[in-house]
Amino acid sequence: MEQIGRLAARLRGASRVTVLTGAGVSAASGVPTFRGADGLWRQYRATDLATPDAFARDPALVWEWYGWRREKIAASRPNPAHDVLAAWTRRAPGWHVVTQNVDDLHVRAETDRLIRLHGSIWELSCWAGCGGRPKRWRDERVPLPEAVPRCPHCCGLARPAVVWFGESLDPADVAAAERATACEVFVAAGTSAIVHPAAGLLEAARSRGAFTAEVNPEATPASSSVDLTLRAPAEQVLPEIELRLIS
Ligand code: OAD
Repeated sequence: MEQIGRLAARLRGASRVTVLTGAGVSAASGVPTFRGADGLWRQYRATDLATPDAFARDPALVWEWYGWRREKIAASRPNPAHDVLAAWTRRAPGWHVVTQNVDDLHVRAETDRLIRLHGSIWELSCWAGCGGRPKRWRDERVPLPEAVPRCPHCCGLARPAVVWFGESLDPADVAAAERATACEVFVAAGTSAIVHPAAGLLEAARSRGAFTAEVNPEATPASSSVDLTLRAPAEQVLPEIELRLIS
């Protein structure tokens, strides 16, 4: 695919590169995406499962859903897309990965300079925000011993430390992601490019002069505005680009 050569040429020699990833990057690892034919939001309503109201209404139901996703993710492994992105960040100090994924597969692939906009499914926090420290703690047990885990500080309910619909992102993560839009090449891979502020990062990078590309087997709202589209799975395209970069 000639487009692969074009993107590789842009990446070669670029000192600042940012890759924004979404659920599609983990699809080949067996982690379900949210939208699309087999997407989670076809089967489930986000408002029943991924909002503060949903948790207030039925914490056990929300935890059951997160428990199921934790099980799926625990059984998965980083795929070649994660591996290539990790290699890029380890090789080049100005290359960043910004992810909307909560599965931590980028972490498991040992990615440097990773900005996680939506948190991690492996971290928990106090539902009531009791103020105990640490504010978030890691718990990788699958399954969790209780249907609804408890906060170790106040013994109230604990929640998944992920960003739900209607919640604000951590301002430090948003600021880091915005700084990363000052780059020569910005690639959106495996994201439907719908959810803000992640979706706005592509636009921000473009207005700051970045060459923009999209890696996605399907068209997205961003497709018409990027400089280059690679309509193929990330786990195929990224290793092909890497081959050209290292040869
Ligand atoms: P989506 O599920 O919305 O989009 C996944 C995208 O990946 C789609 O555009 C697919 O076409 C594409 N895709 C599928 N397989 C792929 C592959 N092998 N390689 C490359 N692309 C592939 O996921 P996100 O864009 O990550 O937020 O969704 C953004 C946010 O919406 C999520 O973080 C989550 C969700 O609701 C919250 O839960 C707050």
